[in-house]
Amino acid sequence: MNLELTGKYAVVCGSTQGLGFASAAELALLGAHVTLLSRNEEKLIEAVQNLDTSLQQKHTYLVADFQFPDQVKSAIETHLSKNPVVNILVNNTGGPKGGAAIDAATNEFLTAFNSHLICNHILVQAVVPSVKTSGYGRIINIISISVKQPIPGLGVSNTIRGAIASWAKTLAGELGEYGITVNNVLPGYTKTSRYDHVLQNKMSATGKSAREIEEGFVVDIPLKRIGKAEEFGAAVAFLCSPAAAYINGINLPVDGGWLATL
Ligand SMILES: NC(=O)c1ccc[n+]([C@@H]2O[C@H](COP(=O)([O-])OP(=O)(O)OC[C@H]3O[C@@H](n4cnc5c(N)ncnc54)[C@H](OP(=O)(O)O)[C@@H]3O)[C@@H](O)[C@H]2O)c1
Repeated sequence: MNLELTGKYAVVCGSTQGLGFASAAELALLGAHVTLLSRNEEKLIEAVQNLDTSLQQKHTYLVADFQFPDQVKSAIETHLSKNPVVNILVNNTGGPKGGAAIDAATNEFLTAFNSHLICNHILVQAVVPSVKTSGYGRIINIISISVKQPIPGLGVSNTIRGAIASWAKTLAGELGEYGITVNNVLPGYTKTSRYDHVLQNKMSATGKSAREIEEGFVVDIPLKRIGKAEEFGAAVAFLCSPAAAYINGINLPVDGGWLATL
């Protein structure tokens, strides 16, 4: 099986930690040159240093805040003007604030739509000409299992994730003829800062301990444990590899079997 990404160039967003960093780390291990994109420069510098370079990969970073689509546009355009080849784009950023959909202010939907779908679209539009020329293209969107089964208490997130899934499926149909695949990877409960944040919120809301809450999550997961970020990153890296050339337009859950749907 050909998993080699030597000589390929990847841009990975939301990547100083968690699922984005884990994806970047696996891509680097397969040989890709990786550009991290997040808002915190100090953390970016540290994250770049933690990527594998044993195959002479060259890694770098871009600073942009997904709350400001213009920043994202400017960062990617500047990057492309100096580094014209991009083969792989991994779209990802922090999740929207929790809460019931019925309680969400209209502005919360607009903010989340901008930070997620609009920024992803800006990035795709910017890199696609380069990807087409290079002849090797992989676009991955890190979304959520809520695409298939809405998660109670994440009303805005559930809504926006669905929009991204439809957008991505549409792009998969439009870009396939150029050898570009577009796939979504859907995390289930995975141990990251975001997960710790969700745990804290549930502890405050219910008065239960972290262990009690985690037991409540795990009861519905056939593998009986929370996922590891590197397990998620491996799935992303596989979809970016030559071995996954004929996989296009899918939603791949990485959830230990949590989803009850087929
Ligand atoms: N972990 C889970 O169990 C789980 C489950 C389902 C869905 N998800 C979703 O998967 C995505 C990644 O989750 P995670 O667990 O990896 O989260 P995380 O550990 O909080 O990491 C989020 C990453 O996104 C970056 N980021 C956050 N806000 C940003 C912004 N406005 N602009 C640019 N970069 C930003 C952060 O970088 P900075 O250093 O710049 O802040 C960080 O690198 C989220 O959308 C989350 O909702 C996660």
